[in-house]
Amino acid sequence: MRDYTCCCITATCAIVVGLVIVLPIVLTITLNVRPSIEDATLTRFVLVPKPTSISYNLSTVIRLYNPNYYYGIYFDSLEANFLFEGQRFDWVTLPTFYQHPKKTNIFRPVIGGDSIDITLGTTGLDNFVSENRTGVFNLEVQLSAHIRYKPNKYHCELLARCPFTVQLGTGSTGKNSFERAKCDVEYPNASDDC
Ligand SMILES: *[C@@H]1O[C@H](CO)[C@@H](O)[C@H](O)[C@H]1NC(C)=O
Ligand SMILES: *[C@@H]1O[C@H](CO)[C@@H](O)[C@H](O)[C@H]1NC(C)=O
Ligand SMILES: *[C@@H]1O[C@H](CO)[C@@H](O)[C@H](O)[C@H]1NC(C)=O
Repeated sequence: MRDYTCCCITATCAIVVGLVIVLPIVLTITLNVRPSIEDATLTRFVLVPKPTSISYNLSTVIRLYNPNYYYGIYFDSLEANFLFEGQRFDWVTLPTFYQHPKKTNIFRPVIGGDSIDITLGTTGLDNFVSENRTGVFNLEVQLSAHIRYKPNKYHCELLARCPFTVQLGTGSTGKNSFERAKCDVEYPNASDDC
């Protein structure tokens, strides 16, 4: 009986010591913020060639998730850029904020424009025409931000590319319901220490 108790104490000690060593490491590893496009509704996407311009109405639901257990994320600047065929046609400045660990923040930018100039090559125009036939457009949100994962650290430039596909006219309730799109996160400034 005494041996068993002793063994239990030893095992418990080992687990506690293990946790004491491992937990701080696990908790303080910094993980990338996880942005995604949760929903998008495109009610107008009309192109007029020569000179090329587009008119559009688009609303999006942008989600930012902080997967870290311990560190909050300071968003010192945040901008959502909207692109078609790699060309930016609109952008929105989002509010700066502090994101607590394990928290999610949602933004719902709504954009609209009439006859906004856009530069598209032949391929871009061809792609518009074929996407226009099906009404399914390939768009992209690019989030550009200055963030800090830790207090008193330098700002890091963050670029998140979020290509997504949206059916003209239908909202999230439509038959072709929107497929959630995850973003690729990169830090374009090589001198950043993120
Ligand atoms: C669509 O965009 C135009 C141009 O910005 C705007 O005037 C109009 O109110 C928008 N329509 C909707 C339904 O948001
Ligand atoms: C896009 O589709 C609409 C409706 O089918 C058509 O009227 C328009 O000419 C098309 N635009 C282009 C640039 O192909
Ligand atoms: C990269 O970051 C450094 C230090 O924060 C800054 O001085 C520099 O301008 C940045 N480079 C670019 C291309 O933004």
